Amino acid sequence: MQSHNRTPNSLRLYKEAQKVLPGGTTRFTVATDPAPIYIAAGHGAWLTDVDGNRYLDLGNNYTALIHGHGFQPVVDAVAEAIRHGSCFANPTEHEIRLAGMLCERVPGLDKLRFVNTGTEATMFAVKAARAYTGRTKVAKFEGAYHGGYDYVETSEHSAPGTWGPLSDPARVPYAAGTPDAVLADNVILPFNDIDNTLACLERAKSEIACLLVDVMPSRAGLIGLEPDYVATIQRFCNDNGILILCDEVLNFRQGYHGAAAEFGLRPDLITIGKIIGGGLPIGLVGGSDAVMQVFSGKGRRAVVPQGGTFAANPISLVAGIAAMTAWDPPAVARLNAMGERVRNGLRRVIADAGAPMSVTGGASLFRLHMRASPPRTYREFYPSAEEQAVGKLVHQALLGRGILMPPTSSSCLSTPMTDADLDFVLDAVDATLRSVEYRAAIGSAGVAAAPAQGA
Ligand SMILES: Cc1ncc(COP(=O)(O)O)c(C=O)c1O
Repeated sequence: MQSHNRTPNSLRLYKEAQKVLPGGTTRFTVATDPAPIYIAAGHGAWLTDVDGNRYLDLGNNYTALIHGHGFQPVVDAVAEAIRHGSCFANPTEHEIRLAGMLCERVPGLDKLRFVNTGTEATMFAVKAARAYTGRTKVAKFEGAYHGGYDYVETSEHSAPGTWGPLSDPARVPYAAGTPDAVLADNVILPFNDIDNTLACLERAKSEIACLLVDVMPSRAGLIGLEPDYVATIQRFCNDNGILILCDEVLNFRQGYHGAAAEFGLRPDLITIGKIIGGGLPIGLVGGSDAVMQVFSGKGRRAVVPQGGTFAANPISLVAGIAAMTAWDPPAVARLNAMGERVRNGLRRVIADAGAPMSVTGGASLFRLHMRASPPRTYREFYPSAEEQAVGKLVHQALLGRGILMPPTSSSCLSTPMTDADLDFVLDAVDATLRSVEYRAAIGSAGVAAAPAQGA
């Protein structure tokens, strides 16, 4: 468990925070047991907390920091730009430069608009799809997260008691008070299940504006879409006038050309965020020239008016240009090879320890599951109460060994990481799996463990 003795300053700050922030935090995704770890500084792949503890950062602000913390080209670009003003209503040349870099890299990204977050990006993309098709329904995967916009939240946390049959997954509201009208405009799909997905799409096909796709939805288990599933949804959407909206806010890091290109998907609309801002707030909605015309007013009000006070602010843009310049094909190849190494290493460590644990992910992403075989669907992935308890123990044990993994254990690498950092992760997981606490936890969870080898 996270030791109270190691983090007294975090505990003190958390007490203070609860007086002014509901729940004591600004983000529900921050672990609060017993207190969030308050960060003092980040350098490269490592974080230092307010108590002086150091952690290898496997979260990187939920995958946003492809170059880790304090990446010098970003620091220099931001320092230079901010001397000349932090934001203007009028455009700057930087937006043309970053847009140009990304349009050149990403197939299907003919034109784009910058926004501030991934949430805004998916919201505007849904509006674009509706305006373009004249339809209102949004199809999305059960369990997939796309930000805090009502129409993309439905069923992102479907649970066994309420999720309904696979042939017609329930539209489960995420936030209390979600209007029924929102739910009525969603179609929920079980990804990697071709027959049931086709049945769900078939029932509503003439009303669906877009199919929102994340090729490896992190919250739904970091499970990649299977090739025949991708081909099937592509064909169905093309045949039925449904736009494919590929949400690459998180998964743009899958490859130099982005996620859709890696998975053989040809989207009409694409949203990207996180790494393209070099650690500063950003998002984009882009796509085919034809669809993106909905944002083009040409002197009149566009059919989808889009703007934002801080959209395309020069500081995020110059940081993004610096980060994307360094995210070149050799950097992508190196980090993805490191991802392969850590996933394979974890599988070996798990097998050697005889632990009921498995690994999913791809490129520079990986996730641990507290079950012996890797899940291939959201419902397979959905952790039981026992698995959640074991997951929490592993998270805390790794924290105690100097590794900050997100509470979900969906993890990512950053370019300043070295092979020694990966060995540090593998050694820490190995020690955790052989610990008395872990063996006791899997025993009481009723999960059979194979005898450890070479213990
Ligand atoms: C796939 C996906 N879409 C959208 C979002 C929302 O992005 P933001 O947090 O920048 O609003 C996220 C954030 O994690 C995401 O992973």
